[in-house]
Amino acid sequence: MGCQYFDPCDHGADTFTIAIPKVTFGRGCLAEAGARALGLGMNRVALFTDAALHHGPYFATVMDSLRAAGLDVAVFDEITIEADDASVVRGAAFIADGNFDGIVSLGGGSVMDVAKASMLYGLHPVEDFLDYFVPPLGAGKPIPEVLLPHLACPTTSGTGSECTSISVLRINELKTKFVLANPALMAQQALIDPACCASLAPMVVASTGFDLLCHALECYTAKAYTRWARVDDPNKRTLIQGANPWSDLAARKALEIVGEYLDRGVNDADDLQARDQLMWGASLAGMAFGNSGTHLGHALSYGVTHLMQDITTDGYAVGSPFVPHGISVAVSAPSVFRYTAAAAPERHFEAASYLQADLKGATPDDSGEALATRLIELMRKTGVPNGLSGVGFGLSDVPALAQSTSRQVRAIANSPRETNLVDIENIYSSAISY
Ligand SMILES: [Fe+2]
Repeated sequence: MGCQYFDPCDHGADTFTIAIPKVTFGRGCLAEAGARALGLGMNRVALFTDAALHHGPYFATVMDSLRAAGLDVAVFDEITIEADDASVVRGAAFIADGNFDGIVSLGGGSVMDVAKASMLYGLHPVEDFLDYFVPPLGAGKPIPEVLLPHLACPTTSGTGSECTSISVLRINELKTKFVLANPALMAQQALIDPACCASLAPMVVASTGFDLLCHALECYTAKAYTRWARVDDPNKRTLIQGANPWSDLAARKALEIVGEYLDRGVNDADDLQARDQLMWGASLAGMAFGNSGTHLGHALSYGVTHLMQDITTDGYAVGSPFVPHGISVAVSAPSVFRYTAAAAPERHFEAASYLQADLKGATPDDSGEALATRLIELMRKTGVPNGLSGVGFGLSDVPALAQSTSRQVRAIANSPRETNLVDIENIYSSAISY
């Protein structure tokens, strides 16, 4: 780590806190689900999944294992591909009525995020769904710490939700995603079985791969934790606390994995080494950004998913409009890091080297361009749409996109560079195509 990055600041934090679940990783580990759930004290299990997975082999493995352990299991699968408040309302009713003493989630980020939030809303109902979200969106009501034990089993290599205390939910009335974050939302254990990625379509691997890439890259280049204000009550310290020595460690390895294996993992479904590595990289990136937060890449992605129209993506059986999360992050990423590099050139330079960017003769002053060039190269190799124009946006959409993004207050504040509405407009304008 560059020591100057973590220099103490007046009134800045001088401590950081990290939290991760107990993690089991390896091919075949889904078969441990029953023993793990039993070990967490579960007797009656709420098993969250989605309709597509429900009748597939990974679900069968988990269900067989839970039943073999003697557990009573009820299944909830009414989850949309983009986790939304309506799925959580249904999931919360399922939890409230079910007399469960534990949760197992099997799926991508949407399933795990809905499982986390359903537990919260089912056990601790509120009058207004937004009450638990931070102002200005919600009332900032404290999230109770008493939830159920949760065993999270990811089936894609991107979100890292199995290792974070974050639930990202689309609020349908506002047509935008917002982040619910609290240490109480973290799963107690994660079972990460890379065999689940064997049948993923190339574009799903590309999208989730860019999600993991941007988690790691935003986390590595985020504002340092020492530049966030100190908190009076350590129990109230959020894990979205800025870059810190722990998040650096995991993000660096995740970036190295993406640099080496993303192209291979997307373009060759038989390259098991690459797909296993990407699964590990996704979890590492989750452990990293879950303890630091992301910044502009993710903030700008929410403007894209808010305003997308008449667009679909290969490999996803979803009607229009739909831009998968990782693609919505990727399309602005080169422009984002060109912009943020000026505030932390050495961090961006290091990140570019981990991603195997061409740095011959380059200095940290060139890091924004080098990083953007490498990201564009990876986008082309993996078939990711070429900038905002590739997902249906033009220059005339920029003011509305920027206005939407400006609501992502915490993520924008985690940028290494002070960022206002005009800056966001400029970043979008430079992201139309590459
Ligand atoms: Fe993400």
